[in-house]
Amino acid sequence: MFEKLEAAPPDPILGLSAAFREDPRPGKVNLGVGEYRNAEGQTPVLDAVREAQKRILASETTKTYLPIEGTPEYGRAVRQLLFGDDSAAREATGSTVTVQAPGGTGALRLAGDLLHRLFPDSRIWLSGPTWANHEKIFAAAGLQIMTYPYFDSEANVLDFDAMLRSLLTIPAGDVVLLHGCCHNPTGADPTREQWRQIAGILADRGVLPLVDFAYQGLGDGLRADATGLRELCDTGGELFVASSFSKNFGLYKERVGALTAISASSNAAESILSHLKVCARTSFSNPPAHGSAIVTEVLRDPELRTCWEEELDAMRERINSMRRLFVDKLKERGVTADFSFIERQRGMFSFSGLSGEQVKELRARDSIYIVGSGRINVAGLTEENIDRVCDGIARVL
Ligand code: LMR
Repeated sequence: MFEKLEAAPPDPILGLSAAFREDPRPGKVNLGVGEYRNAEGQTPVLDAVREAQKRILASETTKTYLPIEGTPEYGRAVRQLLFGDDSAAREATGSTVTVQAPGGTGALRLAGDLLHRLFPDSRIWLSGPTWANHEKIFAAAGLQIMTYPYFDSEANVLDFDAMLRSLLTIPAGDVVLLHGCCHNPTGADPTREQWRQIAGILADRGVLPLVDFAYQGLGDGLRADATGLRELCDTGGELFVASSFSKNFGLYKERVGALTAISASSNAAESILSHLKVCARTSFSNPPAHGSAIVTEVLRDPELRTCWEEELDAMRERINSMRRLFVDKLKERGVTADFSFIERQRGMFSFSGLSGEQVKELRARDSIYIVGSGRINVAGLTEENIDRVCDGIARVL
């Protein structure tokens, strides 16, 4: 059966990390995968995480299975982070449920499986461009994929008019995937007023929003980054949120995420939960415990939470300082193209406008790894590697 198979192409993002690991050249720079690096180029275990792990290991008494949906404490902690001040009122209605999932990807796949199972005719609309894995996840779940325009690559800004025009054509019962903040790959997010308009249109049309919320805290702060989510919630409509602790907790390899569903009633919420449990059970049975235990401990212990928030603020500030330095260093090298948009983009990524050919040349010549779309992980820049990167970019330009 296997002899006649042709190999599948490597993953456009994780395949790059594999190639990077095998590159023997000194000074190589990985600006591909969205992982935070500190000033020393390391992806550290956060202090708050280290302390929570210690406590968990000291008090753990069993390795029995978790409930299919994860622990109730984890679910509450996830919702508290998503909905902030509004979460107490929301808990009281019983209309919001959370299922733990293996990372943000697992949460998106759960949503895809659920939609295909219950609403097989629903199509899912993705932004153009979007994270390289979105289309594959929802296609694997059996959904039909559609695209709405999102980015004006000439002006390097959100193309809001084109986006709205497209949203206004989407029929009731379809699903629109929105990036909650720090749009991947463009780093261009709607303003609060624009979110309000998006939320209004989707609610009026009976279109279900699915928010991919993988970067909370890395744009403008935990609360500011949930602006769009709040606007969507304020319409009182149904909603899915796929959230992840890979980036804001640095828990990449622990695979800790969640799918949260908002319904109009507690009956509907129970029903959705029952179907999500079937999807989880037939996919990964029940979730891994370690990462979610860490998140629960950090979010409910005031001292650890403060420590985590400070560490998160420091990550965000370092990324933003790298954005500024990146723009300055390109200017210093006489690059005439205006790259000031890099400073306005939010989150880990910058959509640089580099072509596929230029990306290939940077890898071949300078062992600088960038995703083929021209997406640069700004969080991978350091004072040590930024000159090499800017020299390389100036050369290919
Ligand atoms: C990314 O976009 O680089 C991250 O979300 C990591 C991944 O899984 O692709």
